[in-house]
Amino acid sequence: MLEQLKKILSEAEVELSSVDSSESLETARIKYLGRKGLLPSLSGEMKKLTSEERPAAGKALNHTKKVLSELFEQAEKRCNTSEIGDSKFSIDVTLPGRIGNCGTKHPITGIIDESVEIFRRMGFIVADGPEIESVRNNFDALNTPADHPSRDPMDTFYFEDGRLLRTQTSPVQIRTMESNEPPIRIVAPGRCFRRDTPDATHSMNFHQIEGLYIDKDVSMADLKSVLLNYAHELFGPDVSIRLRPHFFPFTEPSVEYDFSCIMCGGKGCGVCKNSGWLEIAGAGIVDPEVLTNVGYDPEVWSGFAFGMGIERIAMIKYRINDIRLLYENDIRFLKQF
Ligand code: PHE
Repeated sequence: MLEQLKKILSEAEVELSSVDSSESLETARIKYLGRKGLLPSLSGEMKKLTSEERPAAGKALNHTKKVLSELFEQAEKRCNTSEIGDSKFSIDVTLPGRIGNCGTKHPITGIIDESVEIFRRMGFIVADGPEIESVRNNFDALNTPADHPSRDPMDTFYFEDGRLLRTQTSPVQIRTMESNEPPIRIVAPGRCFRRDTPDATHSMNFHQIEGLYIDKDVSMADLKSVLLNYAHELFGPDVSIRLRPHFFPFTEPSVEYDFSCIMCGGKGCGVCKNSGWLEIAGAGIVDPEVLTNVGYDPEVWSGFAFGMGIERIAMIKYRINDIRLLYENDIRFLKQF
């Protein structure tokens, strides 16, 4: 057995050193390593050996296998280099290139960018504010009564020093008005935080886009036209909007506004719960009290504000049925956008 192995090895060495094409390489492979090849048939013989002979034979067999596979590797490398000029192996420059794994925009970022672009075309500029806010900017200056339920620590995250994680982007209104003279036309996208129990439509952190327009003689009609234009730009000219009376401490009158359902066109379907409308956000005419709080004269200046949920819009636009999908960063989900 040991003799036979040695013989195989020396034969293979000679044979493989002269191999110069993939065909002859394949023939050699079948001869030595194929199912009925020399080496496999020899390992079949192992069981005929006595138990004393077997360990040495096994060792030699393994060694031969290792050396043989190295020889084949070398021969293969040699064939590949020499055959690159052959038509069979030449490089096809017409093949499409390999495209690496490109990232895509997260749907939240996508909606923010798209919305900012739409408002930019209407003359709004982007304003920003911190996620950690004072109680004054998030509640007091926005005319929120001391006993308003949204202030409850059950709903709002407070720090020990009394500051909080902003529950809405509306404090950016206060910051912007306090550091700028009117007229003002801003949108402020950003992250907000509320102590909500996460489920398919709630998350403890979510995004809003705030809008604020301050000028002389601003009316509800101005607000409606801006919101309608936004709806058309985002979802196409067939979408209509409606305003419903609502209450916010910092706007008077206040409205909630809906888009006609983009799935059924307003006829009623599962997505709009048969109402034909999709609730988008809150808005209203800036309360004179808020203007006074930031030092603007409410007799001279007036304005509107709106705030909308980005997740809500992303979920409608991309037909996402669970808000949590937006934060799990599952690559299979994100790849679709
Ligand atoms: N901040 C309000 C909210 O989070 C939305 C809003 C913004 C309403 C501006 C009116 C004006 O619900």
